[in-house]
Amino acid sequence: METLPSLQIGQHIARYPIIQGGMGIRISGSHLAAAVANAGGVGIVSGVGLGLNSPYFDPNESNPRIRREQFFEANRLALIDELQTARQLSPDGIIGVNVMVVARDYETLVRTSAEQGVNLIISGAGLPLQLPEYTADYPEVALVPIVSTTRAAKIICRKWERQYKRLPDAFVVENPNSAGGHLGAKYEELDDPALEAKQVIPELVNYLDNELGQPIPVIAAGGVWDRADIVKMLELGARGVQIGTRFITTDECDADIRYKEFHLHARPEDVTIVSSPVGLPGRALRNPFVEKVMSGSALVQKGCLVNCLQVCRFREAGEFYCIVQALDKAARGDVENGLVFSGSNAGRSDRIMPVAELMHELVAG
Ligand SMILES: Cc1cc2nc3c(=O)[nH]c(=O)nc-3n(C[C@H](O)[C@H](O)[C@H](O)COP(=O)(O)O)c2cc1C
Repeated sequence: METLPSLQIGQHIARYPIIQGGMGIRISGSHLAAAVANAGGVGIVSGVGLGLNSPYFDPNESNPRIRREQFFEANRLALIDELQTARQLSPDGIIGVNVMVVARDYETLVRTSAEQGVNLIISGAGLPLQLPEYTADYPEVALVPIVSTTRAAKIICRKWERQYKRLPDAFVVENPNSAGGHLGAKYEELDDPALEAKQVIPELVNYLDNELGQPIPVIAAGGVWDRADIVKMLELGARGVQIGTRFITTDECDADIRYKEFHLHARPEDVTIVSSPVGLPGRALRNPFVEKVMSGSALVQKGCLVNCLQVCRFREAGEFYCIVQALDKAARGDVENGLVFSGSNAGRSDRIMPVAELMHELVAG
């Protein structure tokens, strides 16, 4: 069997073409990212909302102004902790961060990550149009936008080239029909064949190689489970893959054991689409929390806790639920009352295993 090729992104070369997708909140932290990096892949710390479950934040602070200020500072400090731990655990591995554009403290989190010496920054949930500006002093940090369409990639290339005289170091193309978490497509577009990997990957590779004349690597995300899936994506023209869900059922995944076990025992029919206050659909596992959201029944919650997002229909109109608290609750193990994001492949794991073993299986078949 042929060895999988290595993956170069900017100045960084990973032994295997596998990126572990950023998973918030605190699903992919320092332990998962370091383990993947040590096994020859690219490890990604999810960089958003880390302050909530950190010693730097008191959710019971009654003054909302002080609570919110404390939250953003806590996010910054907790991100520094997480990135430093990842680097201690994997001194020579390729470690990156995932920061969502829609986070209110996006700029601070990006700047902090660059200062902390991450090798790459992956950024989606909005177009990361100002990413090069925030990282201008750190040219060695590779910049990787997440897109679902060639159109979005073109907008980013044009804007970055015009304004910053640089281009992305790679693109992650996330397939909204199978990926976990927030999806870069409207609800009614979710089954659109035009957004399938077999359409978008060759189209984007063709644009980059032939129109733009820059062979920027394209990374396929969404629904990749095993070596055969990786090979399929490479055959479509991708230079690597980003895998999320499969890394949840590992020893090193940073979520509570109850979260991992909930994933382990899930069945394919438990995967569903849920509305999010961000205004994007999300893919998640069905549980009492999701049932309540779907039935529109009142979710008894206090108002906006920390004003964490630029766009939030819970804060603005009291609709849906508080996403940061729902994700945090699940990560801490309350899988009944929290939101458990998942890709469409949930239910295929048969045990919780060490990352090194999983990586070996992925590359060896
Ligand atoms: C639990 C979970 C949380 C996620 N959180 C984020 C996130 O915070 N930011 C992001 O860009 N993508 C997020 N994703 C998407 C993953 O990084 C990855 O691209 C996607 O899940 C790939 O599809 P797969 O799960 O089928 O492998 C999340 C996915 C899951 C399953």
